[in-house]
Amino acid sequence: MVEFYVKNGYLVLSEAASPEQCERFVREVMLLLDNQGHKPEYKLRFESESGRALDIANDDDWSQIFKILQGPLDVKTRKMVEQGFPTLHMSFGATCAPELCHTIEAIKIRTLRNLYEIASALVGTRTLWCTLDRQIQKLPGKGDDGFLHYDMNPFAEQQEADGMTGIAGKLHMSGGSSFILVPGTHTTEFKTNFVKDYQPLYTIKKNAHKLTLDPTKDPQGLFKQIKRVTLRRGDFIIWHKDLLHGVVERPLNMPIDFGMYLGYMPAVDRPEYKTICGISETDDRRQSFEKGVFPKLYSSLDLYRYAPAKYENFPHLMASYLQKVRDDHPGRCTHLIKSTGKEVPWLQPVRLTPWVPPELTDIQSKVYGLTPW
Ligand SMILES: [Fe+2]
Repeated sequence: MVEFYVKNGYLVLSEAASPEQCERFVREVMLLLDNQGHKPEYKLRFESESGRALDIANDDDWSQIFKILQGPLDVKTRKMVEQGFPTLHMSFGATCAPELCHTIEAIKIRTLRNLYEIASALVGTRTLWCTLDRQIQKLPGKGDDGFLHYDMNPFAEQQEADGMTGIAGKLHMSGGSSFILVPGTHTTEFKTNFVKDYQPLYTIKKNAHKLTLDPTKDPQGLFKQIKRVTLRRGDFIIWHKDLLHGVVERPLNMPIDFGMYLGYMPAVDRPEYKTICGISETDDRRQSFEKGVFPKLYSSLDLYRYAPAKYENFPHLMASYLQKVRDDHPGRCTHLIKSTGKEVPWLQPVRLTPWVPPELTDIQSKVYGLTPW
């Protein structure tokens, strides 16, 4: 297993989460998504075959809703879900509503003992932190096709030693997801050649944490070497933090892609974390868990954004989301658009579902970064 991973830069673990765990996860996410302060006409409204309104919180109703969610959605249901889900980051398929970072089921999965053991073997240390990332709820028809990228800047001067680099991953709570990657693109040897051939073709900011490949600037023909991996419910795909990978558009005949991003990295409080956002990585993990909100930065050191960065340049996108949101939503505020100097109505992240941090065992608390190893 470790050998395959070292060579190819990825690994698929089948049944990393049980079917029951997947279902509990989806239900919790659905309840949180249904409590985003939307006006009644923009709420999730599932119906039984006889047309009776179904309630996610009701156990009997839930089994019917879950059945609907496991299959392809008919046009009416898909439109209803699109209306009922928060719009921010919808095209990416992962809302950044504050409730969606530390869900109870996500915490349980991030700290699963067997995942920790496997991650330790792959990263090469027992003192690990799990990443605190987004849950996925991608609708059919969403996502960019063939979006092949590095989650780091391959042209940055200092690269970490291969042995101690963290792993990234995606755990799938519904089946049929596709993931694309180019095996072997994570090694130091590959990267050396890559930099030589690709750096002259790309302009990238020095502090960038991502590089998206352009199919028209691909001298090594990496797009032709793409491997497409199909994943079943409960499967966990792990990839080396420096592997070239991507997402594909969710076809319309598939169910909603529920899942979570999950990675592990050496438990090292990175000084650059505090330089970027003003709070140490350890303190930020703790405050984020206590308050039940996202940390200031993702593990890639990218800024957490409740609304995508492009909303700054296209404020009408926020205006259209605000149409869905109730007038008394506590997150309503105003925001100064720098380019125009105009103050416009805006929405800031406020938890609407109260949060009680769960009790963690000693090892869970260490993996979560709340107590030192
Ligand atoms: Fe990525």
